[in-house]
Amino acid sequence: MSPTQQPDTVLSLRGVSKNFGAVAALTGIDLDVAAHQVVAVVGDNGAGKSTLVKILSGVHPPDSGTITFAGRVVDIPNPAAAHKLGIATVFQDLALCENLNVIQNLFLGQEIRPLRLNDVAMETRSWELLRQLSAKIPSVRVPVAALSGGQRQTVAIARSLLGDPKIIILDEPTAALGVAQTAEVLNLVERLRENGLGVIMISHNMADVKAVADKVAVLRLGRNNGVFDVGDVSAEDIIAAITGATDNAVSRRASRHQEGLPS
Ligand SMILES: Nc1ncnc2c1ncn2[C@@H]1O[C@H](COP(=O)(O)OP(=O)(O)O)[C@@H](O)[C@H]1O
Ligand SMILES: [Mg+2]
Repeated sequence: MSPTQQPDTVLSLRGVSKNFGAVAALTGIDLDVAAHQVVAVVGDNGAGKSTLVKILSGVHPPDSGTITFAGRVVDIPNPAAAHKLGIATVFQDLALCENLNVIQNLFLGQEIRPLRLNDVAMETRSWELLRQLSAKIPSVRVPVAALSGGQRQTVAIARSLLGDPKIIILDEPTAALGVAQTAEVLNLVERLRENGLGVIMISHNMADVKAVADKVAVLRLGRNNGVFDVGDVSAEDIIAAITGATDNAVSRRASRHQEGLPS
C-alpha cells in the first residue's frame, strides 16, 4: 500500500491512460475510492468521464497504468471481470425493460445456478434489496414503464447490488430528474455509503456533488485537475478546476475590488 492511500482504499488507479487513435481520452489518471466513501468525478464534455467509467466496467482496456482492487493489481478485460471483482456500473441509460416488472428487471439475465430462484424467492429478495436502499417503490409487480425517473434509478441501482459489489459507479444518476426525484436518488447514494460501498458518482451538478460527495475529482482534457475534500471547496472552485479558469468569478471580483473597479 502506498503512503498516499487510505487504509480502507478499495480501488486505486495510477497513471491510467487511454487513447482512441490520435485522441488522448485519458492521460495518467490517479483515483482512489475507499469503502464508505462517495467520490464525485466531474468534468466538462469530453473530459474523459465516460472513458474512465468504461475502463472500470471492463468495456475498454486501458493502454497503460495500474488498477488496484482490494489490494491486488487487476485487469478488467470485460464486463464479466468487473462484475466478478465487485465493480458494478449503472449506466446513464439504465438499461431497464419498460414492459417488465420490477422483479423481472432485477433478475433479468441473472443465471442463478444450480437452483433457479422461484417467484416467491425473487419477490422476497427484491424487497430485501429495495429495503436496503430505503427505496420508495409501491409494488414490485408493476411494469417499470409505470415508475418515476427516481424509482427507475432505484431499480437499476438495486439490480447492480445483486452481485454484492464493493464499488458502484453511477453515471449522471440525477441528470434527467426533477427536484424531488433528485433528492430521492441522493438519499439512495447515502444508503449505499452507509452500507459500506465505495461510490463513484459522475455528475455535472455542483449542488448534488456538494450534497452527497466526500471527495470530488476533477477531470480536464483527460487529465486530473485536482482532488478536493468537498467540505473544503466551494462550487466556484470546482467549476474553476473544470473549466481551467485561473481566476474564477470570486477572485475576479476580489481583484476588481482591489483595483477600485466596480464589482
Ligand atoms: N470510442 C471512442 N472513439 C474515439 N474517440 C472517443 C471514443 N470515446 C471517447 N472518445 C473521445 O475521448 C474523449 C473523452 O470522451 P469521454 O470519455 O466520452 O468524455 P466525457 O464523458 O467526459 O464527456 C473525447 O475527446 C471523445 O471524443
Ligand atoms: Mg460522457
